[in-house]
Amino acid sequence: MKVLVTGGAGYIGSHVVLYLVEAGHEVVILDDMSLGCLENIHDQAEFIEGSTLDEAMLDNVLSKNIDAVVHLAAFKAAGESMIHPEKYSKNNLNGTTNLLNAMMKHNVMTFVFSSSAAVYGYPEYLPVDEDHPLKPINYYGYTKLAVENMLKWYGQLKGLKFAALRYFNAAGYDVKRRVFGLEKSPQNLLPIVMEVATGQRKTMNVFGNDYKTKDGTGVRDYIHVNDLASAHVKALEYLQDNDSFTVNLATGEGYSVLDVIHEAEAVTEKKINYTIVDRRPGDPAELIATSKQANVILNWAPQFSDLNTILKSMWNVYNPEENHD
Ligand code: WQD
Repeated sequence: MKVLVTGGAGYIGSHVVLYLVEAGHEVVILDDMSLGCLENIHDQAEFIEGSTLDEAMLDNVLSKNIDAVVHLAAFKAAGESMIHPEKYSKNNLNGTTNLLNAMMKHNVMTFVFSSSAAVYGYPEYLPVDEDHPLKPINYYGYTKLAVENMLKWYGQLKGLKFAALRYFNAAGYDVKRRVFGLEKSPQNLLPIVMEVATGQRKTMNVFGNDYKTKDGTGVRDYIHVNDLASAHVKALEYLQDNDSFTVNLATGEGYSVLDVIHEAEAVTEKKINYTIVDRRPGDPAELIATSKQANVILNWAPQFSDLNTILKSMWNVYNPEENHD
């Protein structure tokens, strides 16, 4: 298949491109390079620098015999989305609308969408399954849910076939070390821990140690980007002969902030200095999910998402001089 991957130079996108190329697909990357890394652009993929806000460019790209689109181009910082919702409306909503409309014009009817755990909001029960109520608590999560709803309508009205993949906490780097470009100004726990291990940061904050969890710190379901990437390839191939679907991509296993810090100290052999500070607003105590649906529909299961493998794969990129394998 000839697959357009928007955001294909980004953190998750570059891993998805790797797996698509490996599976024998022809890949066209569209990325505006606002968060993408030049060194992550796959040498066997065609690269177009551009934004989903550029309708004329989209029209041109979609006219090139594209069979399917994997759409990852979006902003993803939940906190920022509450301060600058307009940025998220523009990129995540208008950009996706433009992309879908260009696809409809050129009769491209297969779409894999990068959705998020953020569509659920506070978990009402655990593990979260796909039937859990959808009540996002930040504007970012709202944009992902709005697109999911749009996809259902386009499915009904235009015959679009889509997969909405709700990622939980994406983490790790390619286990075969083919992706090197680090995320710019990371805001998530694992890259921050890595930056403390390299000495780039002297210390870090732990947001609360009085949650009702095993050690009082927040528990999350970390999923390796290689596992996310394999799910995209399977989703794309599944849609060739089957109907649209929406699934969680997670492990069902939770690790606390202190689990992460302690395991990172073991992997990196560095001391991770931290300070316990107040809880971060909007953080649930625990968020874990079941991926039973992804297992049933796609025959997918995570292979690289244990905490040790995730952290080792990150340390290989953050500190390439020392080989810790
Ligand atoms: C993980 C845990 C923090 C930083 C976010 C988005 C979500 C999704 C994934 C895209 C929590 C704690 C963190 C730090 C800390 N994104 N923490 N100190 O908040 O679970 O999810 O990324 O779809 O929408 O909200 O991830 O990595 O920020 O936090 O103690 O400096 O680490 O409180 O318990 P989060 P995270």
